[in-house]
Amino acid sequence: MEIKIFSDKKIIIRKIIKSDLKNIKKFQVFINSFLIEDAKLSINKKVTPNAQKEFLKKTLDGMRNKSKVYLVVESDNKIIGASDIELLGQRRNHIGSFGIAIKAGYRGVGLGKYLMSEIIKLAKKELNPTPKIIQLEVYANNKPAVSLYKKMGFKICAKLPKQVQWKGKLIPIFIMMHEI
Ligand SMILES: CC(C)(COP(=O)(O)OP(=O)(O)OC[C@H]1O[C@@H](n2cnc3c(N)ncnc32)[C@H](O)[C@@H]1OP(=O)(O)O)[C@@H](O)C(=O)NCCC(=O)NCCS
Repeated sequence: MEIKIFSDKKIIIRKIIKSDLKNIKKFQVFINSFLIEDAKLSINKKVTPNAQKEFLKKTLDGMRNKSKVYLVVESDNKIIGASDIELLGQRRNHIGSFGIAIKAGYRGVGLGKYLMSEIIKLAKKELNPTPKIIQLEVYANNKPAVSLYKKMGFKICAKLPKQVQWKGKLIPIFIMMHEI
């Protein structure tokens, strides 16, 4: 667990633990906030308590078998951010698939950049095998995210048209990758 100050707010960055299974609501509120703001993420319906619990259980399993790393960020006893890297498995086990989300109200103060560097460090340290490539998908119109990824050394290697339904339009995605 790590405590940091971002924009005068005390922030805790930590791995999830088994007792988080007793606190499903906290995770649900966090995830559902992205639905409410119509964020550029794949979520398109509210996460139920059961689905949330299953997700956390699967994540804890992944952490145990070293195929996944997952960090949450807390402030004022609320979850305000999360990031993960998961090995793709089998013949793609050299690739770690990356995800990140910071809650509205906590963006633009360097937290995303910091969390991203921490999850990559953790992936190098804990995943087995150590990934050679970190890969992600991002809506092509997600300027803050694309800019963050470029700053972190990621390169756009493909643009796939008409991939996601967002505000009545079909938006392309970029596949970005970074050799680590
Ligand atoms: C993308 C996201 C993770 C960035 O997190 P953040 O904490 O706001 O980012 P940071 O404050 O660490 O900023 C890091 C870099 O991101 C870019 N960035 C952040 N906000 C930006 C904005 N509003 N416009 C353009 N670039 C922006 C900048 O390059 C910034 O570097 P700089 O501070 O040197 O200019 C965050 O906006 C988010 O979670 N959005 C909603 C969910 C989402 O889109 N997730 C990504 C899905 S692929």
